[in-house]
Amino acid sequence: MKLSQIDRKWWKEAVVYQIYPRSFQDTNGDGVGDLPGVIQRLDYIKSLGVDVIWLNPCFESPNDDNGYDISDYRKIMPEFGTMDDFETLLAGVHERGMKLVMDLVVNHSSDEHEWFKQSRSSRDNPYRDYYHWWPAEKGTPPRRWSYFDKDGTAWKYDEPTDAYYLHYFAEKQPDLNWENPKVREEIYDMMHFWFKKGIDGFRMDVITFISKHDGYPEFPEEYQGQNMIDMYAQGPRLHEYLHEMNEKVLSHYDIMTVAEGPGTHTDNVLKLVGDDRKELNMNYHFDHQSIGVGDRGMVNEAFQDLVQFKQVMSDWDKALSQDGWNTVYFGNHDFPRMVSRWASDAPEYRATASKMLTTYLLTMRGTPYYYMGDEIGMSNIKFESIDEYDDIMTRNWYSLTQQEGGDTQALLDSHKITGRDNARTPIQWDNTSNAGFTTGKPWLTINPNYAEVNVAEQQNRSDSELNYFRKLMKFRKSELTLIYGSYNLLYSEHTQLYAYTRELDDKKLLVLLNFSNQVAECEAPASMHLGKVLINNCDAFSVNENSISLKPYQAVIIEVGQ
Ligand code: GLC
Ligand code: CA
Repeated sequence: MKLSQIDRKWWKEAVVYQIYPRSFQDTNGDGVGDLPGVIQRLDYIKSLGVDVIWLNPCFESPNDDNGYDISDYRKIMPEFGTMDDFETLLAGVHERGMKLVMDLVVNHSSDEHEWFKQSRSSRDNPYRDYYHWWPAEKGTPPRRWSYFDKDGTAWKYDEPTDAYYLHYFAEKQPDLNWENPKVREEIYDMMHFWFKKGIDGFRMDVITFISKHDGYPEFPEEYQGQNMIDMYAQGPRLHEYLHEMNEKVLSHYDIMTVAEGPGTHTDNVLKLVGDDRKELNMNYHFDHQSIGVGDRGMVNEAFQDLVQFKQVMSDWDKALSQDGWNTVYFGNHDFPRMVSRWASDAPEYRATASKMLTTYLLTMRGTPYYYMGDEIGMSNIKFESIDEYDDIMTRNWYSLTQQEGGDTQALLDSHKITGRDNARTPIQWDNTSNAGFTTGKPWLTINPNYAEVNVAEQQNRSDSELNYFRKLMKFRKSELTLIYGSYNLLYSEHTQLYAYTRELDDKKLLVLLNFSNQVAECEAPASMHLGKVLINNCDAFSVNENSISLKPYQAVIIEVGQ
């Protein structure tokens, strides 16, 4: 790869740091993180070296799904603060040379949004067609699967107008009808409203689901249940709408966009992010997250299958190597803590393992999305009982399993690994009570390991996870090879080692990552002259007569001579 051939863009060179405001920092003692809390921690965020903050939804919401059910797109959720707080935050981010990306949640709104209140009030209300309705006189609507519905079905009967409405998520999250041009205009206007305030982009929540199939036909047998996701992402007018959105809104600003893309795969992603498509900049997929995880978040023995993982990630790199641009991530508010899911949170490995995963994220081609708290190696809380969970997803899947007389204990065991609340426990700032997150009662239990794992303890310790993250951030920033260089996988069948080179112009780097808790060995790649070790998360690294040996979870970056 040659730098001169590359179409450089700020969002390709950026590292995105994701903040789930509810769990970041509380400032008024109500146990819920808030925007003043983010403002208070801006210098910390800046000290990480990240470029962009992606803030999870902070709009007015009854919080059935923690802000992903919006009742007013132009107001700030009172629990989080005011519009003034938001503006102070945005100014503070910009003053520090960073950017702010917000969540755009427009596949659905809250049922408490004024549009839906109107829509459900009568069949001839002007807002009726803002949502999807199926009149009961037509019989039972064709099956649709719902993520969060109590009965697993996405059509909900609504008495006042004797009709069913569609909700791919909870029943309090009715799907907006994008087929209606008025809905699209309302959304575009609202996007202009935020861009005019100066925000720098949108992460678009389940944006691949916005176009529905005309007449809501039955889906083929292979797409039943949770597999419907792939059908949802193939709505006939998805690309028409995104292209229109680009033309009417996105192209007017210097911003970044990223699709949350359930149902996108390597064979269809370029339709969304191909350079000449004029739709979105980036997409993030779920193909790696689903390795070894089945319906309802049930884990099987393949959940850390490294060979599969390498294959998936390499295929994605390839799909976007000539056109479009990739993203890489492990953690976010919908997935468990990266160290617990992808490596090990056992006390003897947690710190090293989390540094290894950080090394991966910051040395792959594609924009890294890094989830708050992963920089200090936070790990899963692993709730024992369903009562400890707040998350609508775990709670619903538990009750569905219970209704069916299924194995609820097995579900709980799996959710210790996969449950979303594992990533939502508050940030561990220090070892004072409630980890410095709140003076009140935290909305979700704080991981008891905060006494050892916290920002204050790691702040000035040179070998901490936190300072390792900062070091890797500086390294990525100083080395365009890590951003734009070609990626080449080595030892694809090795079950412990993930190894690859990154290469740009005359520069070549070799990245060696041991994803296991055993020593990993391999022959030094033939024809490579191993040079200086630039990064190492352990204290030594051994190459003996061309045979390389890596300690459990060791990560090394080596310069390679030509
Ligand atoms: C996305 C969000 C998730 C939310 C869902 C419904 O997947 O990331 O948190 O529950 O959409 O909006
Ligand atoms: Ca608060």
